[in-house]
Amino acid sequence: MAVAKELEAVIGRIDERRLWDRHRAIANFGATGRGGVNRQALTPEDIAARKQLLAWAAARGFAASVDAIGNLFIRRPGRDPDAAPIVAGSHLDSQPTGGNFDGVYGVLAAFEVLEAADEAGVATARPIEAVVWTNEEGSRFAPGTMGSAVYAGHLALEATLKIADNRGTTLGDALATTLAGMGVSAHHELRAPIAAYLEAHIEQGPILEAAHRRIGVVTGIQGLKWMRVEITGEEAHAGTTPRTARRDACAAAIAMIAALRDLTRDDADVLRFTVGRFELSPNSPNTVAGHALFTIDLRHPDRELLVTLGSKIESVCREHAGGCAVSVTETLDSAPVRFDPAMVAMVRGAAERQQLASMEIVSGATHDAKFIAELCPTAMIFVPCERGLSHNEAERAAPADLAAGARVLAEVMLTLANRG
Ligand code: HGY
Ligand code: MN
Ligand code: MN
Repeated sequence: MAVAKELEAVIGRIDERRLWDRHRAIANFGATGRGGVNRQALTPEDIAARKQLLAWAAARGFAASVDAIGNLFIRRPGRDPDAAPIVAGSHLDSQPTGGNFDGVYGVLAAFEVLEAADEAGVATARPIEAVVWTNEEGSRFAPGTMGSAVYAGHLALEATLKIADNRGTTLGDALATTLAGMGVSAHHELRAPIAAYLEAHIEQGPILEAAHRRIGVVTGIQGLKWMRVEITGEEAHAGTTPRTARRDACAAAIAMIAALRDLTRDDADVLRFTVGRFELSPNSPNTVAGHALFTIDLRHPDRELLVTLGSKIESVCREHAGGCAVSVTETLDSAPVRFDPAMVAMVRGAAERQQLASMEIVSGATHDAKFIAELCPTAMIFVPCERGLSHNEAERAAPADLAAGARVLAEVMLTLANRG
């Protein structure tokens, strides 16, 4: 079959060394010196990484375009320029103490497929694209999966542009600097049709490694909610103010978090409750905190359980306010998603055909694929990472596994790109 021959030609061109070297190159942008990276969204480091990808794309003659939230699309043309593309990608922004594979792998694996198709001289009916979604991590500008959520119409662009980081820089201003830095003139419409979307990613958990599997056939993503709890008490002197006269925002926050941990205790250890950010003001050793802020990241595969628990959080916080004022804001509500069974079957089929040990898995981490699944048939491909460690500078994946995932991605992308 001509397609099979062409498919093998592209898969055979997936280059493990080049893919690894590209990861090492991107790792330089925001390198912390401790083996990890701090490349938060729309920072100079994020811009530099995007420009590096654009340079690789220009060397291949691939076209680049960017949309109103900064999502970057790299296109290898197909025979039919008007056909909706097959898109694959992920994100380049990282956690403050991030690793060198979370997100980066999905972008570079997608780009590797475009390059391999080019080197194999294989034409596709549809265009194939690699995409960089803006601000997947949400550590600088909350919430995360922002670029894909705006693209899918789940977050409003105008309101999103007004979100500020903790130095008061708005996303709109940081985005303007990024767009100027990238110098990409071609505009990409939000919600422009995508025929199908794929995302390769490290698992960010221990399951594949423990099961000695090379490929995770991802069937879906668990649900998550992000919330901000802001507590306003009264600054007071630490030495002179009696406990009964205090409206101590720190003491209230601690009481609330203890009560929320009780509320979210799960002996089955499926529910995930995390307070990752905790800020006090004025943050002075001898002043009672007048203001406290903490974030909640709540996750579970069961939508109903997540909604029920999420609805209890505000009342629990109010019960432990200790005379302080409290505001609880939900900043992200991401329902669990089950990927298109036909797409999942294609990923499984490609792994089996390429004789790669695989298993089905539900993603504990969220990804841009969650929102893009609202627009088109979507699936994800996982590869293992060492000790399941992620959002950690010691995050690590094996070059052979990265290449194996890219070969599965190539098979599914090229098959879809030649389907009517
Ligand atoms: O938070 C997440 O699940 C993703 O890794 N940013
Ligand atoms: Mn990620
Ligand atoms: Mn992440």
